[in-house]
Amino acid sequence: MRVLNVELGARSYPIHIGAGLIDRAELFLPHLRSRKLAIVTNEVVGPLYLERLCAGFARVDTGVEIVPIILPDGEAYKEWQTLNTIFDALSSGHCERSSTLIALGGGVVGDMGGFAAACWQRGMPFIQIPTTLLAQVDSSVGGKTAINHPQGKNMIGAFYQPRLVLADTATLDTLPEREFSAGLAEVIKYGLIRDAAFFDWLEQNIDALRALDAGALAWAIERSCRNKAEVVAADETEQGERALLNLGHTFGHAIETGLGYGQWLHGEGVAAGTMMAAELSRHLGWIGGGDVARIERLFERAGLPTYGPALGTSRYLEWMAHDKKVEAGKLRFVLLRGIGQAVITGDVEMSDVRAAIEARCR
Ligand code: NAD
Ligand code: GLY
Repeated sequence: MRVLNVELGARSYPIHIGAGLIDRAELFLPHLRSRKLAIVTNEVVGPLYLERLCAGFARVDTGVEIVPIILPDGEAYKEWQTLNTIFDALSSGHCERSSTLIALGGGVVGDMGGFAAACWQRGMPFIQIPTTLLAQVDSSVGGKTAINHPQGKNMIGAFYQPRLVLADTATLDTLPEREFSAGLAEVIKYGLIRDAAFFDWLEQNIDALRALDAGALAWAIERSCRNKAEVVAADETEQGERALLNLGHTFGHAIETGLGYGQWLHGEGVAAGTMMAAELSRHLGWIGGGDVARIERLFERAGLPTYGPALGTSRYLEWMAHDKKVEAGKLRFVLLRGIGQAVITGDVEMSDVRAAIEARCR
C-alpha cells in the first residue's frame, strides 16, 4: 500500500492506494467520529462492492451501523433531485452531524456524496472510496464537490475536503474499458500541465496501463495523486494555480453540456478539449506541430477521441460562456507553452479560438 498526504493544515488527509483496501475496515476506523455510517453508492457499483465493504466493518466492529444509499447510475443523475434523495435517506436513517458519509463509486457518486456531506447539518465527515480510474487520480482528491445545472457542468457545489481517500486499485478490474480510457485523459493531463517526465513515462507505458499491469497502474495513480495533492495544497480554492487542472475542460464541458450529460464521458470531453487547447496554443505560436502530434498520438493510444463533435462553433462558444473560469464576462483559457508547462490566460483573440475549434471538430 502507498500512502500520500494532502497537506491542508488541520484538514490534511491521507490517500491510501493499493489492491484489496476495500476489505480493510481498520483503515477507516481512526477517521470516524461515531459508529454510524451512510454509504452512498449507485446501482452498478453497489452490487459489486457494497457487501464487501459492509462485511469489513462487521469484522472489525460489530457496533457499526450502516445506512446504504443507492443512487441511479450516470452523469444525467448528477442533479438536485438525486441529491435530494440522499438527504431524504440521511433523514430517515437518522444520520447526525457526527455520522460519516462514505462515497463508494466513480466521480459522479463522489461529487454528489461530497456535496451532500458538505450540506447535511452544515457538514458531516466524509470519506471517498473511488472505484474508477478517473476518480482515483482526480475527482476524489482535492475537495471539489458539485452537481450539474442544465446549462453548466458542476455549477452548484462546494469545496469540502474528505477525511480519507482510499483507492482500491483492484476495483478497476471490473471497470469497462471505455471508462478506463476516460480516466487516462486526466492522467495524461498531469503530464501536460506540470510533469513532462511523467508524460514521457506515459508514452513508454500506456500499453501496460491499458493491460492493467498492476505495477504501472499503482505508479501512475500515485504520481497523478502526488501532482494533484501538490496543486491543491498550494491553492485549495482555485485562486490561481489550481485552474491549470482544468486543461481541456472549458472545451470539454461545452461538449458534455451541449450533447446532453452522459453522451460523451467526462474524460472523452477532456481529451478532445485538450486537443482544442493544444491547437489554440499552436495558433499562438506557443507550441509546435510536433508537440500537438505527440499529444494526439498519446490520446489515440489511450483509446480517446482527439476531435470534438461538430456542434457548430457558435454553439461551442455559447456553452463555453458558462464556464467557471469566466471572469468579468471574459473567458480564460488553460493553454500550453510546452509539454509539462501549462499557463492560464485571458489574452486570446476569439478568431483564434474559433479557428482552433473548427480545426478540431468533425
Ligand atoms: P462515473 O462516476 O459516472 O463512473 C463511470 C461508470 O463506471 C458509471 O457507470 C459507474 O457506475 C461505473 N463504475 C464505477 N466504478 C466501477 C467499477 N469499479 N466497476 C464497474 N463499473 C464501475 O464517472 P467518472 O468518470 O468516475 O467521473 C466523472 C465525473 O467526475 C464527472 O461528473 C466529472 O465532472 C467529475 N469530476 C470531478 C472532479 C473533481 O475534482 N471533483 C474531477 C474530475 C471529474
Ligand atoms: N479537477 C479539477 C480540480 O480538482 O481542480
